[in-house]
Amino acid sequence: MSAISAPAQAHAPEQLHVQFGADAATQAAVSWAAPGPARRPRLRLGRLSAGLGTEVLAQERTYTEALTGERVWTYHAAVDGLRPDTRYGYQVRHDGAEPVAGTFRTAPAGRSAGFRFTSFGDQAIPAPLGLGLGPSSPNAGHVVPAIERLDPLFHLVNGDLCYANISDQPVATWAAYFANNARSAANRPWMPTAGNHESEVGNGPQGYLAYQTRFELPDNGSARFRGNWYSFTVGSILVIALNNDDVCYQDGAFSSYRRDHVPGYAASGLDPYISGYSGGEQRRWLERELARARRSVHIDWIVVCMHQVAMSSARFNGADLGIREQWLPLFDAYGVDLVLAGHDHHYERSFPVRGVEPGSSLLTPAARGSDPDEMDTSNGTVHVIAGGGGSSSFFASAPDDDLPPEGKVITGVGAGDRQRQRPPIVATEPARWSAYRDLRTPYGFASFDFVPAEPGGTTSITVTYHGAELGSADYVPLDRFVLRKRLGSGSPYAGAHLVHRHAPA
Ligand SMILES: [Fe+2]
Ligand SMILES: [Fe+2]
Repeated sequence: MSAISAPAQAHAPEQLHVQFGADAATQAAVSWAAPGPARRPRLRLGRLSAGLGTEVLAQERTYTEALTGERVWTYHAAVDGLRPDTRYGYQVRHDGAEPVAGTFRTAPAGRSAGFRFTSFGDQAIPAPLGLGLGPSSPNAGHVVPAIERLDPLFHLVNGDLCYANISDQPVATWAAYFANNARSAANRPWMPTAGNHESEVGNGPQGYLAYQTRFELPDNGSARFRGNWYSFTVGSILVIALNNDDVCYQDGAFSSYRRDHVPGYAASGLDPYISGYSGGEQRRWLERELARARRSVHIDWIVVCMHQVAMSSARFNGADLGIREQWLPLFDAYGVDLVLAGHDHHYERSFPVRGVEPGSSLLTPAARGSDPDEMDTSNGTVHVIAGGGGSSSFFASAPDDDLPPEGKVITGVGAGDRQRQRPPIVATEPARWSAYRDLRTPYGFASFDFVPAEPGGTTSITVTYHGAELGSADYVPLDRFVLRKRLGSGSPYAGAHLVHRHAPA
């Protein structure tokens, strides 16, 4: 063995993934994990044409999985001052271990160029682990090269990343998730939002410690809830990631396996029901972000990425009234253009919605348009559910001939406690907001082709849904529509108007 060979105890980098900073044109972070503590973890980085001239020491962050007692080591190297619209190469290095390489491209500055991004939720992992309690499918693997083939600037992950919270092997589940995705996520930012299955009771106050530890996301100004919500600017789009467990009524993070096996669960008062956990902090942040975006002369589009949905006709989980009460009035007031979600494992999209259907105690969003192919988001917010990333073992149970479709809404929860999951209380509504849905194709993702415009011009986002059958790596375009909006001549958003909503009876 030569002197420079890696000693057996040198822990090699693995599970690489890239994230944008708050300014996608100039800031990024590379994150990774290791099976044990790394020696001098660092990033070497440079423009592809100029070599890896910059070295950044990585920050180590660890957590201990409450279920198994395993310690997880993660590393994060944030870089600033990058050149816009530029491809960078990097190597992740530990002393004594082989470097691992990746690349990424920064966003174009402002309105200088268009780009593509992609999105799905509810991916899971390609093969079962442990007792097989969490979902898995071949498509959780196949969707990754399908994303790569489209070469997006970045990818949005609409929550329910890997369902570690219901697995007997949560750490191995996270590792399988990142190992599966590194083919893409090491070469372009995968920007996540936390879904109900990211809340692992016992791992931190709301169960998000694994999620918070494993990602390096733009700062939201909150020490307690760092990573739970954040925003970044990419071109003239502001992307806002929200954590809907804070506002949803549904008891979505409950895990009977963790209840029965996390040491101390019974004695410690652990409770997976976290509705309202931020005490309004997230909502106040959201309103500040939206107001800031609408004052800015640089932001033309606001895209919200979240997990649980405001509308759905799949008759799976259903929409959550909490989202309608807490978020939709703000989306209306500040003109959010597009909302991406998951949670229901199908594909569905709305007309632009603004305000509430007259007399609706369910706060049913009112459709502001009837053309399903061309929509003007000046009239309202278009919602897209793309929950077919890979966990779609469930299949949508609404009948295909249910037209006009019927929406399902969770309006509250029944009796339960931290030992017994609270059952949802549900109601139905005519889904006049539904512009298109696909209940037949179990897996898929959406791509978004953004064309910027200068003030006075018309900017657009063309959305394509790519679907695949179980076990197929062949993702084919199944639906396409265009969002357009004409930009004012230089003035910030002029359409802000508060829509008064009555609380449900
Ligand atoms: Fe899910
Ligand atoms: Fe979910």
